[in-house]
Amino acid sequence: MQMIALFPGSFDPLTKGHLQLIHRAARLSQKLYVAVLNNPDKHSYFPIEDRLLMLRQGCSSLQEVEVVSFTGLLVDLAASLKADVIIRGVRGASDLEQEILLSRANAALYPGLETVFLPASSESAAISSSLVRQILSLGGDISPFVPESVLRFISGRSTQPKTHKP
Ligand code: PNS
Repeated sequence: MQMIALFPGSFDPLTKGHLQLIHRAARLSQKLYVAVLNNPDKHSYFPIEDRLLMLRQGCSSLQEVEVVSFTGLLVDLAASLKADVIIRGVRGASDLEQEILLSRANAALYPGLETVFLPASSESAAISSSLVRQILSLGGDISPFVPESVLRFISGRSTQPKTHKP
């Protein structure tokens, strides 16, 4: 399809499930904007700069993908980027129910903007950023759930030398 698509999310952090969906969405679009929500009112586990970096590293092989951040309404971003469609992944029935409500709100705010749902693959249906955050905070191994680029970023960060105050 020759369309400009928008794949929005919190990506806190990027997971293997997200990355697989981004690859699939990129195949459907002429240009794919991966849009990271920067919500100053909501605490995120990873700061926006880190989430953007992990995404840019993860998507570096995809020519048609551009990673951007946004604040405010998704429809305002869609209008400014002249996006034809929003693409969202769904892992199951409860995701779908939520996503249909979101897509209706977006369509009411921006008539003509379509939302396309991509079903998550069976291997990635159980993966979520919140699961990754929980495992990370308990010191567990997140390697089954996140791409190499994210693993490298997180392990690099945790081995940074600490600065000691005299
Ligand atoms: O990865 P997530 O947290 O499921 O992504 C949710 C996201 C960022 C797509 C959604 O919260 C969003 O679009 N937020 C921006 C505000 C907005 O436009 N909300 C919908 C209309 S009420």
